[in-house]
Amino acid sequence: MDFAPRMSRFKPSPSQIASARVRDLVAEGQDIVKLTAGEPDFPTPDHAKAAAIACMDANEIRYTPINGLLEMRKAAQLKFKRDNNLDYGLDQIAVGSGTKQILFNCLMATVSQGDETIIPAPYWASYPDMVLLAGGTPVIVDCGQNNLFKMRPEQLEEAITPNTKWLVFSSPSNPTGATYSREELAALAEVLLRHPHVHVLTDDVYEHLIYDGRTFHTLAEVEPALYDRTVTCNGVSKAYSMTGWRLGFAGGPKDIIANMAKMQSQSTSGVSAVSQAAAVAALEGPQEYVKERTANLQYRRDILFEKLNKAKGLQCDLPEGAMYIFCSCAGTIGKTAPNGKVIENDEDFTMYLLESVGVAVVQGSAYGLSPYFRASFVAPEADLVRGGDKIQEACAALS
Ligand SMILES: Cc1ncc(COP(=O)(O)O)c(C=O)c1O
Repeated sequence: MDFAPRMSRFKPSPSQIASARVRDLVAEGQDIVKLTAGEPDFPTPDHAKAAAIACMDANEIRYTPINGLLEMRKAAQLKFKRDNNLDYGLDQIAVGSGTKQILFNCLMATVSQGDETIIPAPYWASYPDMVLLAGGTPVIVDCGQNNLFKMRPEQLEEAITPNTKWLVFSSPSNPTGATYSREELAALAEVLLRHPHVHVLTDDVYEHLIYDGRTFHTLAEVEPALYDRTVTCNGVSKAYSMTGWRLGFAGGPKDIIANMAKMQSQSTSGVSAVSQAAAVAALEGPQEYVKERTANLQYRRDILFEKLNKAKGLQCDLPEGAMYIFCSCAGTIGKTAPNGKVIENDEDFTMYLLESVGVAVVQGSAYGLSPYFRASFVAPEADLVRGGDKIQEACAALS
């Protein structure tokens, strides 16, 4: 088969490749400590499951409207008002099969050849590939550890050209946990206000996974003058442990939302009514347990953080949100493993961890910044301790 040229423009998801590699090793019977999880390990809340069952029992199993059932759009509307103080009309709400589809629809509907999309690095690996698939040009802005992996206003200013269409970023970030404060967003907004042709896609899917008493802020809320050119994306995956239900949503300008729906109408159509019923229950139901779960994740973050920072050649900062530690392995580059192999980059280092001590993490190059690796702290406490000890052991064995 001759495949379409667009297929060579983008790569498959690196974290899914890493997960598949780990699955193969486990299937071979190897003992692997997995620090690669990209989803919370809590159950979907009972009230969301009950709503899904009630939906099935009522035989609400037909096609649904492309842009979501009215109840779902109302639930997203309520959530944006309650959590973000953002007012969206029902015709300003998109509903799709996950935040990923929402982002995909938006970029596919708006980006054409020659359009530039600014993406701060480290980034969620899908952003540049989605832009490339849409035919646009990703403009990567390196945001180093010295500013906790956040983009400074002057970097944004420098990256903007007459061809800039979008700025896309996640806060809290996958893979670094970097979480922009109100002041930091206001400083970026000041730059954006000077460039009215730039639109902003904020990926807020980790909104509720935020630590040490921080408060979440999103751009359209911080700077209302940007409301008309911001698409605020979110979903139930991370906040409510509902990754497999595939439900994401966004609020934004009517014309963009309508074109996102048009894109979806020729791919997956409306989201399953069962998933929408569960999502409505999650969004409208009690929210207190979310904080308890976040506190539990913070406890696990601290365990892994301490272990990694004690490993020779590694150094990391405490992530402000999300579920990952983005750790520098600069101190291991150029060192030699017991088998004589020299560690030349972060991919070599992560392979060394996997092969020598059976710990799986993802190399930083997958997220646009080296030499780093991403370690997820969504793992049982015993695995975080054991994995951390094994990483220390592997680092100590380098010479
Ligand atoms: C930053 C970011 N955005 C979006 C997604 C996708 O979320 P969803 O499950 O809602 O499609 C992920 C999942 O890992 C993510 O890390």
